[in-house]
Amino acid sequence: MNSALQIWHPFTNGALDPAPLLVRKAEGVYLYTADERKIIDAISSWWVNLHGHANPRIAAAIAEQAKKLEHVILAGFSHEAAEELAARLTKWLPKDLTHMFFSDDGSTAVEVALKMAVQYFQNLSRPEKTEIVALAHGYHGDTAGAMSVSDESPFTQPFDSMRYAVHRVNSAYCYRCPVGLQRESCHIECVDQLEHLLEDRGEQIATVILEPLLQGAGGMIVHPVEFLQRVRALCTKHDVLLIVDEVLTGFGRTGKMFACDLANVVPDLMCVSKGITGGFMTMGVTLCTDRVEAAFRSDNRLHTFYHGHSYTGNALACAAANANLQIFDDEPVFDRIATIAKVNAERLAQLREMHQVGDARQIGTMGAIELLADDAGYLSALRPKLYGFFLERGVLLRPLGNVVYVLPPYVIQPDELHRVYDVMVEAVETLL
Ligand SMILES: Cc1ncc(COP(=O)(O)O)c(C=O)c1O
Repeated sequence: MNSALQIWHPFTNGALDPAPLLVRKAEGVYLYTADERKIIDAISSWWVNLHGHANPRIAAAIAEQAKKLEHVILAGFSHEAAEELAARLTKWLPKDLTHMFFSDDGSTAVEVALKMAVQYFQNLSRPEKTEIVALAHGYHGDTAGAMSVSDESPFTQPFDSMRYAVHRVNSAYCYRCPVGLQRESCHIECVDQLEHLLEDRGEQIATVILEPLLQGAGGMIVHPVEFLQRVRALCTKHDVLLIVDEVLTGFGRTGKMFACDLANVVPDLMCVSKGITGGFMTMGVTLCTDRVEAAFRSDNRLHTFYHGHSYTGNALACAAANANLQIFDDEPVFDRIATIAKVNAERLAQLREMHQVGDARQIGTMGAIELLADDAGYLSALRPKLYGFFLERGVLLRPLGNVVYVLPPYVIQPDELHRVYDVMVEAVETLL
């Protein structure tokens, strides 16, 4: 293509990375490129796609909505698609989450949650409660606040001066246990650090934010449910708000609609995005309890939550989200999810036995292997080699350094998922 203006692609180094592939169309799990390739999208295009590309039901819903109302300012106005979405989400959420606040994507859903948590205590005349706790290996997005609560990584390194201080506590990374124990015999001692911190500084701490049960970009780290349950109990004890970032885990990825459901945990605030529109439109939502929202309802104008984005509650995105949830109602989505989980379990059992594989982890539709590497981490030299190897064989997988994971759209068929795993096995045998 001959264009004066060049696209600067995300997470891409113009000097080191291959030129982007031009995608002409996509259908189901396949991407079709201009150079005649057919590629399985085994990572749901950064974890957003649920029911396949170009899903006709979602496409039709957006087209219908566009003819009626494309967008309206959400301050002082509402619209039917947004009201319908609120009603539809109610069915899936813990009943204690009673309010939803729209934003644009995962990062802004996180920014909103953090700001709500901090202002909540200001509004309650507890201005000393401002500090934030986040986990090692956490990832919450690329805007400045979301980047501050994300753990230090090559993504954040140049921006140290822009990141505000947070308390960083252990994650339940069992393969590399931060307190040197074995999962089979431990009692989740990794959480003791948070317990001590809250005992010491609970009066100053406003919130703990974490990715529930599955830390994604930090390396597809799966936590025991007891970890999340213990964190919930500690937050309650110390009057600290718990924010769960379900941007990745929401909408079925872990086997339940939300990861919190697996642990029977109800957070004070929850962030969702990615799968909410089935992967069609960008949208973020921050949910909270009555108790949180009530602190902003006041005869003092300064207690207002002064935050909003131009495209907040966009009607086309709401229409896509409604169609997505209708598919959950009408189609055997959780059977599809269970089938993926079964294939993941079978194939990870095989991969776990390979001497090049240090760990194999799974939660629901996510299956990952951590490869043994001297340079473990996002910048591992294995990453570009693996990426190219997969792509040459018609599979889109984007390893996180030496961690290779599968997170497919739910419509993937078992033979297609086996094909993805076959290519993974071949890569491990060939490249390591
Ligand atoms: C857990 C989590 N939170 C937040 C984000 C940021 O979402 P977005 O890229 O839509 O801003 C991501 C993105 O991968 C994520 O995985």
